[in-house]
Amino acid sequence: MLIAGNWKMAKGPSEAAAFCRALREADLPDDVDAVVCPPFTSLAEAVQTLAGTEIGVFAQNCHWEREGAFTGEVSAPMLRELGVYGTIVGHSERRQWFGETDETVAKRAGAALADGLHVIACVGETEAEREAGETEAVLRRQTAVLEADDNLVVAYEPVWAIGTGKTATPEMAHEAHEVIKSVLDVPVLYGGSVKPDNAAELLAQGAVDGALVGGASLDVDSFVAICRAASHS
Ligand code: 13P
Repeated sequence: MLIAGNWKMAKGPSEAAAFCRALREADLPDDVDAVVCPPFTSLAEAVQTLAGTEIGVFAQNCHWEREGAFTGEVSAPMLRELGVYGTIVGHSERRQWFGETDETVAKRAGAALADGLHVIACVGETEAEREAGETEAVLRRQTAVLEADDNLVVAYEPVWAIGTGKTATPEMAHEAHEVIKSVLDVPVLYGGSVKPDNAAELLAQGAVDGALVGGASLDVDSFVAICRAASHS
């Protein structure tokens, strides 16, 4: 089980350090891999504070070129130099607000993997797509551009469930994960309003291999509670 906390645009370096110090002291279950995904400016602090632990630090994005004229972007070698272990790519907020496409997501994932980073690649349908019966086609399309890799994990994040308090039912998550796994044989995380009180039920589904948690990962106690809920499931 992998539980990843996507902090999005929250926690500067001092808050990140305080969170990571508390996480170090927490009693995390041995059968759960915990990962934090701070914003770029807090990565160094998180890596240093979590040094010597099993808790991985992931970035939230990564460019496909190693260096060049790409203002505002950060590359895989830069992340590696900091001691960052992996990166999220293709989050729906990047697809929605920053022009990310299936093609750029595939390029980002491929380059990050080639440079030795682990990757969490996000896919998921919008509410309109679900209502139009397009969920399966969207998941197939978004997943098909990715290449299988031992260090690749896909996160199924239905866009309508992100930050809304709505979650997919465990059955909906299972069904979507089966579609993704039929295209690409990789572990699949569920994301979208995962909280301590719904985590166990979602994670008990056979095809759910972990969670990508937004809001509920910002508080140490709540993040640790989700990690505990993931244990033995
Ligand atoms: P919430 O858990 O806040 O719904 O966010 C989910 C998400 O987008 C994680 O990447």
